[in-house]
Amino acid sequence: MGLPRDPLFWLLLLLVASCSGILFALFSSEGEPHPGPRSRARSTTAPRAFSGPKAANSGTRKGRPCGHPLALAAQQHPRFRDLFDFSKPVLLSGGLYTWALWDSLSQRKAPYGWQGLSRQDIVSTLSLLNGSESTQLFGSGKLHQDCIRCAVVGNGGILNGSRQGLNIDAHDYVFRLNGAVIKGFEEDVGTKTSFYGFTVNTMKNSLISYKKLGFTSVPQGQDLRYIFIPSDLRDYMMLRAAVLGEPVHKGPDGGDRPQTYFGPEASARKFKLLHPDFISYLTERFLKSRLMNTNFGDLYMPSTGALMLLTALHTCDQVSAYGFITSNYWKFSDHYFERVKKPLIFYANHDLSLEAALWRDLHAAGILRLYQR
Ligand SMILES: *[C@@H]1O[C@H](CO)[C@@H](O)[C@H](O)[C@H]1NC(C)=O
Ligand SMILES: *[C@@H]1O[C@H](CO)[C@@H](O)[C@H](O)[C@H]1NC(C)=O
Repeated sequence: MGLPRDPLFWLLLLLVASCSGILFALFSSEGEPHPGPRSRARSTTAPRAFSGPKAANSGTRKGRPCGHPLALAAQQHPRFRDLFDFSKPVLLSGGLYTWALWDSLSQRKAPYGWQGLSRQDIVSTLSLLNGSESTQLFGSGKLHQDCIRCAVVGNGGILNGSRQGLNIDAHDYVFRLNGAVIKGFEEDVGTKTSFYGFTVNTMKNSLISYKKLGFTSVPQGQDLRYIFIPSDLRDYMMLRAAVLGEPVHKGPDGGDRPQTYFGPEASARKFKLLHPDFISYLTERFLKSRLMNTNFGDLYMPSTGALMLLTALHTCDQVSAYGFITSNYWKFSDHYFERVKKPLIFYANHDLSLEAALWRDLHAAGILRLYQR
């Protein structure tokens, strides 16, 4: 699908552009590979038929090898072999900060870099993420787990009536994002949340737009971790305040108390930050949209769901995607929690056609299991 020619599309686009308080960044291809430590060792046992996740508890899982590790499937695929670089650091922590990193990232706009942001704002946030828990998604206790199985739950209408809740909860880790309504939809989407991914902009927009549909608070819990997507100075400021347990001290969210969103715990282990270089790499390799070469290139970035799913694909051994766009998306409502069917609209800030093709191809390659119906 190319760019819609419908004038209504452009009108909607303008509305999105003017309503969204955020300046989506222009992609620049200056990202160079940064070989770094792998976040964790991957199991590379021989592939077997992928039987799909079973409702096993995590106790019985231990010691069971991966039936079909995705890194191996990627390695064996003629196209994806050259796209995946599992050595890329996924998270940005204080330890990765150097003058060279500053020089390189300050050339690129967020979410790919720090152009226009002050070094002090960046450093004051990153210096809080200086422990080992900021370098990896999964706790060090999980390092020797044989097979990490993840479910990433998008908010697509395909989940309405899907009865996938138990299958989703059977995974070791469950990723959710933005307006992830759970109450009332447990049978379809499950209840477990290990990671919640967002930008401050998408989180707050979701709380406003979907409040009436049941999204009255961000998922919270003792074992839950938050993944900040750094699309703006706002994300660095909110992250800093959240770790310190203080109100946000500047910017459009000034005065906000992070505890209202994330619950009482203020600590570095609770909050993770996606590396801007990782977002560049994902965009360049997996989601290089033609939209980037239009006048709307500044608005384009991969969707929150795409960033979370690709994050899981670079950190887990098996990944199932639920509620992501499929070829028959028109059969379903935009979101699973809508009461009346609402068509999915393709705005120019994301390229959902390109994302749909990527999920389809990764599924066909056996790298991802995409829930379809
Ligand atoms: C991280 O930084 C804090 C404050 O600057 C300091 O107290 C702490 O010891 C540092 N931790 C590590 C692991 O470097
Ligand atoms: C959700 O599914 C039910 C049936 O399972 C259907 O009646 C309803 O219209 C669907 N809602 C939307 C918004 O599509």
